[in-house]
Amino acid sequence: MKKQLIALFFALVPAVSMAAGGHGVALDAANIDLTDKAAMQDGARTFANYCMGCHSAQYQRYERVANDLGIPEQLMLDNIVFTEGTLIGEHMKNGMRHDDAKTWFGAAPPDLTLVARVRGTDWLYTYLRTFYEDPERPLGVNNKVFPNVGMPNVMAELQGRQVVGCKAMPVKNHDGKVQRDTLTGDIMKEEQCDVLTIVPDTGTQSEEEFDTTVKNLVTFLAYSADPVKLERQRIGVYVLLYLAFLFVFAYLLKKEYWRDVH
Ligand code: HEC
Repeated sequence: MKKQLIALFFALVPAVSMAAGGHGVALDAANIDLTDKAAMQDGARTFANYCMGCHSAQYQRYERVANDLGIPEQLMLDNIVFTEGTLIGEHMKNGMRHDDAKTWFGAAPPDLTLVARVRGTDWLYTYLRTFYEDPERPLGVNNKVFPNVGMPNVMAELQGRQVVGCKAMPVKNHDGKVQRDTLTGDIMKEEQCDVLTIVPDTGTQSEEEFDTTVKNLVTFLAYSADPVKLERQRIGVYVLLYLAFLFVFAYLLKKEYWRDVH
């Protein structure tokens, strides 16, 4: 039994460690909540508005999204389906041809249905918030977790212009915790250069608002990558309860069979 437990433990470890990673850049935690339908609705709208021009989610149907997230079908058609003549039952495809995209961006925009599983939600959350201006790149933009990325900063109008510059950053101990002033308890800050900073008043959203927009978008992508996750977990609980219940009888039966054998 002990051996099995140890084996189980090691079988699960990679799932945890796989969530980390990303060119050595520390990832920000997305802390998404897959039961938050309002967040996912907002994310679906952002996805349709800002991403589907280039990316598809072709393993997902509009109808399923509408049903799962509680969006009435007509509302879905009016606000999220932009291609004229698209039916609610269709897959979330787009019209961009891969070879065109390659010429324009140097790389074709991949389908995003499963990207949250491939990259992890923290990676996505960090990626979408760390585009910065870099005149050396063809599109004038680079990214912290995806160096020399071919994708433009599509949400720049919301976030504003992000540049590498100097900014007051919290001072951290060697164990990674923020340092506080021993007298006042305030977080200690020091001017640091070579960090990402947003040029004030260049975006339509504040930093916190933009973080929420991205978080909602990532919540939608996480849902899209695994639409039955919550349902599966719910059923899983019943399965475990059932097994625990069955165990009692199996054990009694075993005792009965072995009673006379020694
Ligand atoms: C103007 C076209 C365009 C738009 C709009 C766009 N992207 Fe991209 N995206 C790209 C291209 C091109 C790549 C491939 C970049 C590369 O490989 O260098 C990419 C790559 C990505 C990747 C990395 C995929 C991977 O695992 O390699 C993610 C994630 C992504 N985009 C998410 C988004 C999201 C979310 C939005 C909407 C907010 C969005 N993109 C909007 C063009 C676009």
